[in-house]
Order: sequence, then structure tokens, then C-alpha cells
Amino acid sequence: MNINIANKKTFTSGGRMNINIQNSVTIKDVAKEAKVSIATVSRILNGKEGVSPVLIKRVNQAINDLGYQPNAVARALKVSKSKSIGLVIPDIENPFFPALVRGVEDAAQLHNYAVILCNTDSNPEKEKKYIEFLFSKRVDGILFTGGPKSGMLMEMLSKLPIPVVLLDRRFEEAKVSAVYTDNIAGMFLATKHLIENGCRHIVFISGPQNLLPSGDRLKGYLQAINASKMSPTVLFADFTFEGGFKAADSLINSRENFDGVVCANDLIAIGVIEKLLQKGYKIPDDVKVTGYDNIRLSEWYKPALTTVNQPIYEMGQQAIKMLVGQLHGYIPGYQEKILTPNLVIRSSSRVGG
Ligand code: RIB
Repeated sequence: MNINIANKKTFTSGGRMNINIQNSVTIKDVAKEAKVSIATVSRILNGKEGVSPVLIKRVNQAINDLGYQPNAVARALKVSKSKSIGLVIPDIENPFFPALVRGVEDAAQLHNYAVILCNTDSNPEKEKKYIEFLFSKRVDGILFTGGPKSGMLMEMLSKLPIPVVLLDRRFEEAKVSAVYTDNIAGMFLATKHLIENGCRHIVFISGPQNLLPSGDRLKGYLQAINASKMSPTVLFADFTFEGGFKAADSLINSRENFDGVVCANDLIAIGVIEKLLQKGYKIPDDVKVTGYDNIRLSEWYKPALTTVNQPIYEMGQQAIKMLVGQLHGYIPGYQEKILTPNLVIRSSSRVGG
């Protein structure tokens, strides 16, 4: 798969996608070698003032050692700051993402950056096209939340000569900065809460496989279940109402005995509750249900949803802080910021309302 950036250069890389850079050494490699930020290397390459002779010497040494040839297109793109940031999200209809966009946009405004929002429906072809588009529009950085098939894009993102921060969904193989929640701890809290409230057959309804939030939440569920010597039951769904509704239908038809359901996000949980109520179950008397995210709807839904609160707004704020820090040279290399979730207990798991 070839990536054509700004029609000035074709990037092709090994494996399922090809990026062919004049030489494989990038500005990021130079920054890492010299232990400075990309912005400092860029400032030196563009002859900007205000860089100490020590750093200039170190960077030039790294350029020589690595045989770096400044990529004319990347330098041209880098020189003119557009004061804009690309934000790529997978599902604009899921209330988690507009809440995330709010945090990003408010922080971007504070730093005088405009935000260009791209919705991909988790389609890797659309993700690739949007990355090409954003790069051609000379955005100063990209915030990226991928889908289950975005792993193949990580190498390309890591080689872009502009800062990139993965939002909420990191990828194992990615050498790219990321801001996300401790999803293992979050799902452990929800599962432990149901155990402490008497549940003995707790089912976990996961989000899509191949996404680290799904994998980490499964780990948190299994940690709590195994610690209580209970047996796990796992079903997979999309992060949607329909996904939860269908999963609950399969669970009921399986005749599996269950008294608790922990769900990988709030939309799944609402779909599960709708199906259970349709089939005559009482919530929480017959089955206790928890969600994940704490979207606004979870508080207003009937029954109000017990859920794991993700600091969504803060995630957006922290991602901008990290990106701007890299743009202005305060943060070298790639960073990870892990946010702490907390449990919000409401009627869907608390008997007596
Ligand atoms: O609701 C959407 C889910 O996808 C959230 O839990 C968020 O963490 C994202 O990964």
C-alpha cells in the first residue's frame, strides 16, 4: 500500500504498507540520538537562533553519525507552522469521542491552535487518507485514535516528521507517544464491585478484539474473577448499543447462569440492559450491570448506570499538552501518560436504588 503525502513524495514502508524515504534516518532518529526534541533539531536545521552551541554540536554529530539527509519536503512542511492540529477519531457517534474532542479543542484554543477533526469509522483506508490529507495541510501535529486494524499504520505515524500522540488507544508495536487510561485497573474495579455486592456468575462483554482497551479491560476482569476463584465468561461485541443488545441475546439463549454483567463501555451496557429488561429481568435485583467511560447519558439513563469513569476531558487536555510540549521542544522522544479511572456507583448495580 503506497502512501502519497502532499503529492510531493511517495512514502512506502515494509510489510503491508510501503514508505520509501530518501534515507531511512528521520529527524526523530536524530533527535533521539542527540537526546533532544524534534523541535530543537528542526530549529538547528533551519538555522534558528536561541540554540546552545553544545546542542548544535551534539545534533550535528548525530546527523553525521546517522548519515541523516534532511528531507526537503518534511523541512519545507516543518518551516511554516500552520498553527493547526489534526485529530483523528474512529466513531463520532459514540459520545465518548465528542467528550474527548471537547478536551482537545479547549486546550488547543488555549495554545492558539485550530483543530481539524477527521472521523474514520475505524476504516484503515480512511485513516491513511486522512493522515495524507493532514500532512498535506501542514498540520503541526496529529492526535490519533485508531480502530482494530490501525496497527499497520503505526510505522508510518512514527516516521512522520511532526509530533504524533495516540489518544486512548495505544498499540503494542507503536513507538509513538500516547495518553490513555489504566484500563486494567478500571475493569478490575467494576468486577470487584459486583463481587462485593454478591454476584457469583459475572460475564464480561468486551469491545472489539485487537484493541488494547479491550485487551486491558479483559485482563482487569480476569484478575478480579481469578482472585475470587470464580469462572470467567467472555463475549465480544462492538462498542455500540447494538453490540451489547446482541451479546445479551446470545447470553440469554446460551442458558448460561449469570447474575452480573460488566461491559467494556457504556453503550454496550445500555444495549445489555435493554435486552435484559425486554426479556423480563429486573435490574439490579436479578442482574447487576456496569458500563465503562461515564458518558453523560450513563447518569440520565433509567436505571442510572454504574460505570468506570474515564477522565475523558483530561485525556484530551493532556494529549494537547504533550503535543505542544514536543512542538516547542520541551519533551524529547516519545512519552506515555496513563490516567487513573474511578468507579461511579449508580442504580444499575445498587439494590435499593
Ligand atoms: O466507548 C468507546 C470506547 O473506545 C471507550 O471505552 C474508549 O476507551 C475507546 O477505546
